[in-house]
Amino acid sequence: MSIWSKKSITQLLAEADDSEKGLKRTLTAWSLVALGIGAIIGAGLFVRTATAAAQNAGPSVTIGFIVAAIGCALAGLCYAELSSSIPISGSAYTYTYATMGELLAWIIGWDLILEYAVGAATVGIAWSEYLNNLLVNVLHTSPIPYEWSHSPFQTSADGVTGIINLPALFIVAVISLLLIKGTKESAFVNGIIVITKVAIVVMIIVFGWHFINPANHDVYIPPTSTYTDDSGVTHNFGGLMGILGAAGTVFFAFIGFDAVSTAAQETKNPKRDMPIGILGSLAICTILYILFAHVLTGVATVDDFRTGGKEASVAFAINKYMVGYKWLADFVTVAILAGFSSVILVMLLGQSRVFYSMGKDGLLPNMFSDLHPKFKTPYKANLIILVIVGLFAAFIPGDVVGDMTSIGTLFAFILVCISVIVLRKKEPDMPRQFKTPLVPIVPILGVLVCLSMIYGLGWTNWARLIGWLALGLIIYFGYSKKNSKLNNS
Ligand code: ALA
Repeated sequence: MSIWSKKSITQLLAEADDSEKGLKRTLTAWSLVALGIGAIIGAGLFVRTATAAAQNAGPSVTIGFIVAAIGCALAGLCYAELSSSIPISGSAYTYTYATMGELLAWIIGWDLILEYAVGAATVGIAWSEYLNNLLVNVLHTSPIPYEWSHSPFQTSADGVTGIINLPALFIVAVISLLLIKGTKESAFVNGIIVITKVAIVVMIIVFGWHFINPANHDVYIPPTSTYTDDSGVTHNFGGLMGILGAAGTVFFAFIGFDAVSTAAQETKNPKRDMPIGILGSLAICTILYILFAHVLTGVATVDDFRTGGKEASVAFAINKYMVGYKWLADFVTVAILAGFSSVILVMLLGQSRVFYSMGKDGLLPNMFSDLHPKFKTPYKANLIILVIVGLFAAFIPGDVVGDMTSIGTLFAFILVCISVIVLRKKEPDMPRQFKTPLVPIVPILGVLVCLSMIYGLGWTNWARLIGWLALGLIIYFGYSKKNSKLNNS
């Protein structure tokens, strides 16, 4: 057998039957929309909007949101087809195994670590920043000292260099342990978090609108230049490249809508409800995001985002400019800590599912699919994930892990779009509960828009992605190929 060997669709569906027996079809279109919004709104909006405005686009970050949303909608239509025809855990990794063979499946599985594990680290770092904000501005105590709440690659304005980001490590560890115990967010808790997150965003838009300073929007698309951040990386600022760079950066804010696709088997009427769930949650978030970014860049200046606000820019902007609304900044800080925790939980859960599938296929050691005797969760996988995510969260700056998450996910989306075209050719008669419209136009456009965002993320990030994939190939040829169950059957 070769690196191109594929799992047959029959084999996959048999596995799906076997491993996912008993799932009930209870979800409606609206519960899918709520699930999507719960996984989507997080650090991307509350942290990376300001980062993109600071580093790439100023107020035109709103246009970046539109580009990112178009890419996600096109990829989302492809996700909906695959998830309704191959409804088994493992997401893009599983789809690729069936369509493009083992090597590419490995690459995507390895790449998904960027989306889920590194993504969880990014939100953990944002959590740490808002925890300090809570300590200082809400509880009026001292913050966790800079060196204990930042990576060694960061230096404060007064010259203190970070050692380790302990709060980020802490939140990742707590949530990993919860996952091992199998604590599931009940629909009720998820519902409350969704309502709170949407309420904060709407309140900031409504109250902040009156504080927009037209001078901040004077030059909506800044002229082309460059900006060098604290870690010494130079970004394209302004113009079209700035907008594409911003799109790549805020793309992070949409990650999570693909989580909706994993619920295909539990949906009452997937044919109708899947597209409503995926595209509905995307549409609602897109509108909220554009308005939010418009208000935020109108209230505070690009310089505020670069120097004062940093990762906690939203609370900073409210405190500095929206006189009389300190309560809103306090509420945002508390609610965001809860909101970020739920995003971290979804991402760590997604990562453990992918590792579990790869362990079962023999591409990773067996222990990745070992279940805890009592809790029935892949606890060894969760512990290994805790180490990987913990290392990223503790030692790498938020911007770097955030961009790595974006580029890794964009790459996964591209492979999902291509999988739809390949599967239509190879398995034309396979039952599809939902069909992507206008194939191959929609998947090809999806590939192009995602590629343009990868382009906008700049060569430092391309190099990081290539380095990550090269490491993955070494592991594949050194271990996975020899141990693959499909290759040895
Ligand atoms: N979309 C999620 C967030 O912004 C990952 O936190």
